[in-house]
Amino acid sequence: MTAALILVAGATGGVGQLAVAKALEKGFTVRVLTRQADKAKQMFGDRVEIAVGDIRQPNTLPAAVQNVTHIICCTGTTAFPSAKWDFQNFFSAQNSPQQVDAVGVKNLVAAAPQDLQRFVFVSSCGVLRKKQFPFSILNAFGVLDAKQEGEEAIATSGLPYTIIRPGRLIDSPYTSYDLNTLLKATTDGKLAVVVGTGDTLVGDTSRIDVATACVECISDPVTVNKTFEIVNSGARPEITDWEALFAQLN
Ligand SMILES: NC(=O)c1ccc[n+]([C@@H]2O[C@H](COP(=O)([O-])OP(=O)(O)OC[C@H]3O[C@@H](n4cnc5c(N)ncnc54)[C@H](OP(=O)(O)O)[C@@H]3O)[C@@H](O)[C@H]2O)c1
Repeated sequence: MTAALILVAGATGGVGQLAVAKALEKGFTVRVLTRQADKAKQMFGDRVEIAVGDIRQPNTLPAAVQNVTHIICCTGTTAFPSAKWDFQNFFSAQNSPQQVDAVGVKNLVAAAPQDLQRFVFVSSCGVLRKKQFPFSILNAFGVLDAKQEGEEAIATSGLPYTIIRPGRLIDSPYTSYDLNTLLKATTDGKLAVVVGTGDTLVGDTSRIDVATACVECISDPVTVNKTFEIVNSGARPEITDWEALFAQLN
């Protein structure tokens, strides 16, 4: 079997940088897909390969995906208009959820090697509950519609996949522009990981646990072609048993 080479897209983001760290800790070889090579170099030094690319631009992706065995896609933009949307003028945003979470994800799926062993995607709780509060508010500018489009492209691609739907992200690095960032909301490492299927859970999710789930799932066949939610709730056990958590997805 070929040695694993994991491509982390969105590696400079909050969940992405933790996913890179977790993958390196587990001994995987990691390539990062980034729009900003200098930022990635500063973050990861020589511990990763760096591929410069933008998921909105399909021609930047073939070099990035060459020989990869797994893709962990943590890309995203803000749910509400912000500088991250890259406004050209008042009416035209170049990096909105539609462009990143829908079009960009579809481009990455299309570019992925046919023999890819896993496409892991960080989506969001609420994609199936867009009409219910608070997801109706979250989806005001279409982020959940776009995530769902991305999910569907992955699930129908024929590639083995795992889709992870976190709740509101907490724990550092605080990269989003929201209340949890202002409050520096944290689990303090005290809240247990809870997983579920069917888009029913509500709550906050530690970026650390999302990143860990992204890496742990690729070694667990139970998670192939599964979609699950993840939040933090209740007292955290001394050791989080990912195998037991993933077994609940069956
Ligand atoms: N915030 C929440 O409460 C919440 C809740 C549920 C799910 N999520 C989802 O969780 C995921 C991780 O969140 P996060 O806070 O870690 O996100 P983040 O810090 O904003 O990171 C997003 C990453 O995506 C990259 N990116 C953006 N546009 C790109 C493009 N066109 N091409 C390539 N890369 C691009 C960014 O790279 P640059 O450094 O180049 O900008 C950055 O590395 C996201 O998908 C988000 O939608 C968030």
